[in-house]
Amino acid sequence: MGFIEEIKRRRTFGIISHPDAGKTTLTEKLLLFGGAIQEAGAVKSNKIKKTATSDFMEIERQRGISVATSVLAFLYKDKKINILDTPGHKDFSEDTYRTLTAVDSVIVVIDVAKGVEEQTEKLVEVCRMRNIPIIVFINKLDREGKDAFDLLDEVEQKLHLSVTPMSFPIGMGYDFKGIYNLWKQNIQLFTGENKQTIGNKKEFNSLDSPELEKAIGAKSITKLREELELVKGVYPVFDRNSYLAGNQQPVFFGSALNNFGVQELLDCFVEIAPSPLPKASEERLVNPSEKPFSGFVFKIHANMDPNHRDRLAFVKVVSGTFERNTPYLHVRHNKKLKFSSPNAFFAERKEIVDVSYPGDIVGLHDTGNFKIGDTLTSGEFLHYKGIPSFSPEHFRYINNDDPMKSKQLFKGIDQLMDEGVAQLFTLHLNGRKIIGTVGALQFEVIQYRLLHEYSAKCSYENVNIYKACWVEANPNSSDFKEFKRIKQKFLAEDKSGQLVFLADSAFSLQMTKDTYKEVKFHSTSEF
Ligand code: G4P
Repeated sequence: MGFIEEIKRRRTFGIISHPDAGKTTLTEKLLLFGGAIQEAGAVKSNKIKKTATSDFMEIERQRGISVATSVLAFLYKDKKINILDTPGHKDFSEDTYRTLTAVDSVIVVIDVAKGVEEQTEKLVEVCRMRNIPIIVFINKLDREGKDAFDLLDEVEQKLHLSVTPMSFPIGMGYDFKGIYNLWKQNIQLFTGENKQTIGNKKEFNSLDSPELEKAIGAKSITKLREELELVKGVYPVFDRNSYLAGNQQPVFFGSALNNFGVQELLDCFVEIAPSPLPKASEERLVNPSEKPFSGFVFKIHANMDPNHRDRLAFVKVVSGTFERNTPYLHVRHNKKLKFSSPNAFFAERKEIVDVSYPGDIVGLHDTGNFKIGDTLTSGEFLHYKGIPSFSPEHFRYINNDDPMKSKQLFKGIDQLMDEGVAQLFTLHLNGRKIIGTVGALQFEVIQYRLLHEYSAKCSYENVNIYKACWVEANPNSSDFKEFKRIKQKFLAEDKSGQLVFLADSAFSLQMTKDTYKEVKFHSTSEF
């Protein structure tokens, strides 16, 4: 197969959802269709057990396992599918945000009963910012939930999307009878079995089929007809270009657990979802079909063995081919590096790979050369954009508890921040260090890892911060000078040296914005 065909057949995407909506179940069913696993349960058993959410030791243990599910690749209808794991637990969302920079599209899973939930809103916002093509899958139709039209409204309003149903449910919960597939114009009946392997389903190609009427009853057919009329009247027809541009989002209904509506989703996905897209670097737009290799690090996974500080850096191939034992330029260090055992990922294995194509993810063993956002190329000085930091939600001062070990502590903090575990802010006023995390549990994880991997002891102290905002201003503007003078106490530097305003309340942030009109406050580090 030629280079261009290899690119065209790749589909690299992430599944995002609020915890418990069914992301793991859906992932598993997709793997099942791809023949990558034979029975459901394999991915699931790797999942962090819900009971362990307050037990960071368990998370530590699971960290190793989750390397295996970071990228799940399989072939389906001759397409190479790469699913990037976007950890759904609240404490991992920083990781999730970063993974979104490496996907070419996403599938959003929504629980039919719970509707749009908080984490989904946040993640979809990031996708919208980057115009990532989105498909919505409304899950758990075998349970009682919200009315389909109400849900579609909710998705549009809360997620600011413009939806077009590709399938429509016939009944719901106890009364769930099946799904009308608007994309293929056929109907599938739900048999109610809890299918863990791919089973047969009954399919009808027309709403007028007498067998169908016998199966679901005249009343259901009349209702479905009315609903489909409404769908046609209210929603635009699917337009692939609008979907690819991030302006229209197709919606599917189904039940991942029951394997219902999943194949329809996958069949449509492989047809409409984008193959690897051009990516903007600071210098220029890079096309996947360019021959020279380029890629960027979007995730770093520390090894479980505390005695070996080796880590796995996940690189998304953007252009050209990544080849084993070939020297590549590490742009930030201006240094050539060669990799003798790059890993590629399949269902749940990782294997040494000789050649990887755009869209693929390569795992590189690293002893501390990489940090998130680093670019690797065949020689060109490119810097890939698009791995911004978002404001953390929890902040604490970090103190060194063992003055003899301050070197170890700073090295440890440095490396953990490179991994993207948390963010570090250094106060202008006194140089004190503040750690910011997305989930509160991360503080325990950092403390534990600093002690076990770097023999450094630390403790935390509360600090009253509501949000971190990245500051942009003309350095000579009087407004900015005044802002810096008055708000000195709240100013810090992030790890890359950017100026950050640490607001102590929503009110003070608004007041500050209103007072210093020439200063811009951004919610991400890239603007
Ligand atoms: P997550 O990765 O998004 O957190 O969700 P996950 O797939 O783990 O699913 C959360 C719960 O929802 C699981 O139940 C799962 O079995 C259930 N679920 C997923 N899809 C469906 C569906 O289509 N219908 C119904 N009725 N349930 C569904 P659990 O009891 O929390 O876990 P488990 O004991 O089944 O492992």
